[in-house]
Amino acid sequence: MMIPPLHWNDDAGRVDLLDQTRLPVEEVWLPIETPQAMAEAIRMLRVRGAPAIGVAAAYGVVLALRDGAYDPPHPVALEAAEMLAGTRPTAVNLFWALDRMRAVVADAPKASQPELRARLLEEARAIEREDREAGRKLGVYGLSLFEDGMTVLTHCHAGGVATSGYGTALAPLLLSREHGRRLSAYVDETRPLLQGSRITAWELMRAGVPATLITDGMAGHVMREGRVDAVIVGADRIAANGDVANKIGTYALAVLAEAHGLPFYVSAPLSTIDRRTPTGADIVIEERDPREVTHGFGRQTAPTGVAVYNPAFDVTPARLVTAIVTERGVLRPPYEESISAAFRSARTALSEG
Ligand code: MRU
Repeated sequence: MMIPPLHWNDDAGRVDLLDQTRLPVEEVWLPIETPQAMAEAIRMLRVRGAPAIGVAAAYGVVLALRDGAYDPPHPVALEAAEMLAGTRPTAVNLFWALDRMRAVVADAPKASQPELRARLLEEARAIEREDREAGRKLGVYGLSLFEDGMTVLTHCHAGGVATSGYGTALAPLLLSREHGRRLSAYVDETRPLLQGSRITAWELMRAGVPATLITDGMAGHVMREGRVDAVIVGADRIAANGDVANKIGTYALAVLAEAHGLPFYVSAPLSTIDRRTPTGADIVIEERDPREVTHGFGRQTAPTGVAVYNPAFDVTPARLVTAIVTERGVLRPPYEESISAAFRSARTALSEG
């Protein structure tokens, strides 16, 4: 069960992108033809989810060389990368993917515009393909944590359209039927932008995975009633010590999970682990428009002029994280060591393969 957020349209030389802000009522595909249009799509959450915005930004750099006759083309590609890097600050996959695109530019100093564009396209496709392969592995490793018949609680949306098709936290759920396993989920609606109710519930229903929607404040009650066996979420950035930045509300879930003796799992590809960020305290937390809180989906729901604080993410300390599922296996504390080992094993696989 694969649900990708975008397609590279080779005939038109553009990206066709599923507008996630219109889900679940409408499935609208937008033609994205310029890096500026891609930046707008990322900023407005038309494409969202850490791995998906990395892939989208990579294709955004390719679009910089779609038209015009640039000689040399390199500054144009680098300017696009710079602009795309300014769209959202927290998910590290964005910067990771753009660094890969910049490296392609640096490695081809003599390339003409068509040559550079072809190389950038190849890299964007590789980033997408690798993320898709990682997602499948996350699903398989994630399944090893759950017994048949278990129910998990998840937050925000970490499924197909947040990645290149298989998801991170949702990957084991989306693959569960294919593997003959019955898993079901409680889905936090995820205030203020409702990624849980709009997208997670939609994807799980499409995949035939039993899903029950709750509001965020119901999670503790649901745990106390014994309705869930574990919590699993994705991540926007994981620091070198295992601290996890994810959608606002994740930290509260981790505290609740500990209080109820439930395992708290994080599922993310290595591209989400930022070893240059020592701890969660060093992660920049995006603050978004107060109107997302006061005027959710167009209707005023708070008094005019009320003070609002709207951080989009929070940080869960590593001590509350039972395990981190990656494409190199399930990592356990102490995370400094298990994360380093996972990167070592990825490097070895790359050099051997
Ligand atoms: O603001 P969003 O919708 O981009 O936030 C997304 C999340 O917090 C996801 O849980 C995270 O990126 C993991 S996606 C595989």
